[in-house]
Amino acid sequence: MSPSKQAILVTGGCGYIGSHTVLRLLESGYKVIVVDNLSNSSYESLRRVHKLYAITAAASPSAQFEDAALPVETLIPFYQVDILDRHGLVKVFEDHPEISSVIHFAGRKAVGESGRIPLDYYNVNISGTVNLLQVMEDFHVRKIVFSSSATVYGNPPSIPIPETSPIVTVMSPYGRTKVFLEHILKDLCVASVIKQQQHLQDRTNNTDGANGAEVERNYEWSVMLLRYFNPAGAHPSGIMGEDCKGTPNNLMPFLSQVAVGKLERLAVFGNDYPTDDGTCIRDYLHVVDLAQGHVAALEKLDQEQAAGNYGCKAYNLGTGTGYSVFDMVKAFNKAVGTDLPYKVTDRRAGDVPNLTSDPRLANKELNWRAEKTLDEMCADLWRWQRNNPDGYAVSPSIPHPV
Ligand code: UD1
Repeated sequence: MSPSKQAILVTGGCGYIGSHTVLRLLESGYKVIVVDNLSNSSYESLRRVHKLYAITAAASPSAQFEDAALPVETLIPFYQVDILDRHGLVKVFEDHPEISSVIHFAGRKAVGESGRIPLDYYNVNISGTVNLLQVMEDFHVRKIVFSSSATVYGNPPSIPIPETSPIVTVMSPYGRTKVFLEHILKDLCVASVIKQQQHLQDRTNNTDGANGAEVERNYEWSVMLLRYFNPAGAHPSGIMGEDCKGTPNNLMPFLSQVAVGKLERLAVFGNDYPTDDGTCIRDYLHVVDLAQGHVAALEKLDQEQAAGNYGCKAYNLGTGTGYSVFDMVKAFNKAVGTDLPYKVTDRRAGDVPNLTSDPRLANKELNWRAEKTLDEMCADLWRWQRNNPDGYAVSPSIPHPV
């Protein structure tokens, strides 16, 4: 099916990665429906998506972009629904029988918090996802792209990390929800193959109770697990980015808040790791590249389905290049034009020295590659933070939703 005919349900579509992905989907010709409970995100992000999509449409007038003239509510049907709310999800699928796939971002993601309230994390991430999968099954929508994380590799035995590196459970409750969900999705695929074989057998034997009248069905699931490395940056327009509620947990949003004076200085969590400068190494990738990875994933799932292939597969989404904390501070200082204050403190519990991807499988099979540079990532993040020091909370140019 061509993208222009496909409707994608994006859960968590108002969040940082979700909103950038919604924009890339629209720009790639998909119809998008968003579900988000707005617990850690803002509807304003979809207004920004709408604005950016109109800019894309104006720059390349074609019939594909005619829908950019629609009001945001029509262009992107939005449901403030929690993934734990089964009736709410059912209503979304009833209203939109055209949904063919789901990109599932919704979930809780603060590592430290997950250690304090693990049951909340297991409830939202695991029960919420199982709920979503059951509703998808009920509506015969069996194609999903899932937000996994490099955290599933724990402290990997070798760098760069291929997808075949062991998946571990020695980590935070948040990290474990990602591992468990990967297993749940794999189990679902295995079970769906058995169900499909049984269905075909029943039809052959004419024991399906349909007297041969029932059309052949396909019960098989197509699942893609995308293991993100460290998403960073913002849309190059400077009007869409990460809107952190409270003090950021992650390095780049923390640094950007130091740059606008909201935070005093960066705490560098340890400089005694076995790396060149003693700080941890991560594989930072631009959020726009990451968003494109989801479009590539959907295209791949379609190609595989067209070839009769279903099942579950994992891909790393990273650049393949690692940078230390000090490398990142230096690169961001360059973008800001000043040296930001920092202090080396104790290590943070749970940090591992190096998480750098081997992205070659995604490069080859998804035809996807992270293209943006570290400098672009930092410049775009700074443009966003400088223009929106309070994120989406204060919006001089765009009114709040009524
Ligand atoms: C973290 C999570 C990971 C999650 C990802 C995305 C941990 C252990 N891992 O990845 O599971 O998928 O976020 O949300 O939390 N750093 C500082 N000072 C800071 C913040 C970070 O020095 O104020 C350092 C960290 O020690 C780390 C690096 O910066 O070495 C990157 O940290 P962060 O941005 O939090 O990402 P991860 O820890 O890699």
